[in-house]
Amino acid sequence: MAGMKDIRNIVILTGAGVSAESGIDTFRTAGGLWERYDPEEVATAQAFARDPGKLLRFYDMRRGSLDDKQPNAAHKALGKLDAEWQGEFLIVTQNVDNLHELGGAQRVLHMHGEHNSALCTSCESRTLWRGSLADRPPCPSCGDRALRPDVVLFGEMPYHMDRIHAALRGADLFVSIGTSGAVYPAAGFVRDARELGAKTLELNLDPSDGSHWFGDARHGPATEVVPHWVEEMLGE
Ligand code: APR
Repeated sequence: MAGMKDIRNIVILTGAGVSAESGIDTFRTAGGLWERYDPEEVATAQAFARDPGKLLRFYDMRRGSLDDKQPNAAHKALGKLDAEWQGEFLIVTQNVDNLHELGGAQRVLHMHGEHNSALCTSCESRTLWRGSLADRPPCPSCGDRALRPDVVLFGEMPYHMDRIHAALRGADLFVSIGTSGAVYPAAGFVRDARELGAKTLELNLDPSDGSHWFGDARHGPATEVVPHWVEEMLGE
């Protein structure tokens, strides 16, 4: 990529496409989750208020489907880049799986939360959680049966936005991997990055809704395109 030698600080946004080849559902590509479930019924703050049991069972199903999933070559390449990159580095993921961490990445922010965490709506404590929430287990901290998925629902504020905007302000390179650019605020980060003077690169199976905002793009499966790009960045 042109001008890569003067890159110091990298911010990477990832979406469901980076986990697709690990067997985790995407949302809007053919056969995706929102073709099989209506997000209005199972993924909004209103749905949780209207029928908490239905939403809790939906997230139990999604959390359970993570049990046998492994990081793929894209997750591992990003873990290697995190370990070896000398400058600033941050992965902002929209994904609620833990495959970036299992792939070796350490500097990861989950702006839409995480499946393996339960949030207590009574005492607001967070607990590592792998089992069911639909059977309303007691909160380990306060005992109330008020646990919910620690996942950002449509209509709720994404997490870590201050840290994300601070990272974008310092970025020399913004890379978007495996996301359709359909959901804000994540879909707007590329414009923020451009306005702040960063180079922008899209690595995606095919052009996303926001492709025209990127200075550069490479299209193909993440397990091919991402390791190749990481090797270039590390000068290998
Ligand atoms: N390699 C690279 N990219 C891929 C691959 C792959 N193997 N498979 C699919 N993609 C790309 C698709 O082309 C698409 O652009 O990944 C993107 C997936 O888009 P979505 O399914 O919309 O997922 P995402 O962009 O992460 O959705 C954003 O929407 O529903 C909410 O909270 C949910 O975090 C999610 C957010």
